[in-house]
Amino acid sequence: MKIAVFSAHTYDKDFLDEANRREPAPFDLIYQEASLSLQTVAFAQGCDAICVFVNDVVNAPVLEALYRLGVKGVFLRCAGFNNVDIAAAQKLGLLVARVPAYAPEAVAEHTVALIMTLNRHTHRAYNRVREGNFMLNGLLGMTLHGKTVGIIGTGKIGLAVAKIMNGFGCRILGFDPTPSPEFTAIGEMVNLDSLLARSDIVTLHCPLFEHNRHMINREKLGLMKPGAMLINTSRGALIDTRAVILALKSRRLGALGIDVYEEESTLFFHDRSSDIIDDDVFQRLMTFPNVLVTGHQGFFTTEALREIADVTFQNLNCLVNGTSCPNAVLKA
Ligand code: NAI
Repeated sequence: MKIAVFSAHTYDKDFLDEANRREPAPFDLIYQEASLSLQTVAFAQGCDAICVFVNDVVNAPVLEALYRLGVKGVFLRCAGFNNVDIAAAQKLGLLVARVPAYAPEAVAEHTVALIMTLNRHTHRAYNRVREGNFMLNGLLGMTLHGKTVGIIGTGKIGLAVAKIMNGFGCRILGFDPTPSPEFTAIGEMVNLDSLLARSDIVTLHCPLFEHNRHMINREKLGLMKPGAMLINTSRGALIDTRAVILALKSRRLGALGIDVYEEESTLFFHDRSSDIIDDDVFQRLMTFPNVLVTGHQGFFTTEALREIADVTFQNLNCLVNGTSCPNAVLKA
């Protein structure tokens, strides 16, 4: 079976090839550095399935083009599927499968890294000390013990964050339409407005849907404790970046840590260091000393990449064998 693998970086090839070598009948993997879009969909010519990542565009026109090429399945190397038009895929009879959980602790640990770095300003201290500046001005942090952490989305990653922050001695609040007993054992479930008003740190761990796009907007930012920290390692469009910039400028928001950005597809996972970046919103974010941005690397651990590769092949084998796929994504 021939698979077109889009947005393929060296590390994707390494882990997929390693897993493919363990397959009794290895797949023919055709790697494409390009991300999937209507312009690149022709690379799937002659392939039975495609394998994509977070910023590949898998909308209705792309799915229709794939269908015409004879593609039978879309295999996501990630958990989030906001970039796939599930209804359109279902209409065309295309199987869409994802990797629902690959080391949620990896994303949780990165979330905590953002919190710790912003709080104690280690990103600034690193540069200062290298330049022989040992002044402490501007590096003042808060003791996390006893502070309140509000977790929006208390699923696998939210729960893992709650456990770590609980270990620091923080009070844990959660907001989730379907709370889990495991979370309620360590955190108090509250409504969104109350979580925003009471938390010193707010961290987002829910999926992106059309209905919660910009759920952290100007109004919600206005409810947050003055000086609170906002963290997003989930999906960029959960927060209205322009509103966040205004909240930072007015000093209402104390710090911002993001691993995802609503317009990340033209930036993240590419080397743009020799280019002039014309995204003024992103560039404005880069000017704040209390903003830390990483390029969607929350998942990026050896364990997670191994799990992604293994589950991707399990999903592909469902297509090969015509069996029902436990990781299929269906329209709710
Ligand atoms: P999960 O499915 O275990 O948990 C998500 C939780 O969010 C569920 O409990 C659900 O009820 C809740 N939820 C849904 N809509 C909500 C809303 N409007 N408000 C509050 N809660 C809501 O998912 P998991 O594994 O914890 O992943 C969460 C998200 O993290 C993914 O959807 C993905 O966007 C992101 N992610 C980011 C990665 C990175 O590298 N930065 C890697 C993997 C996932």
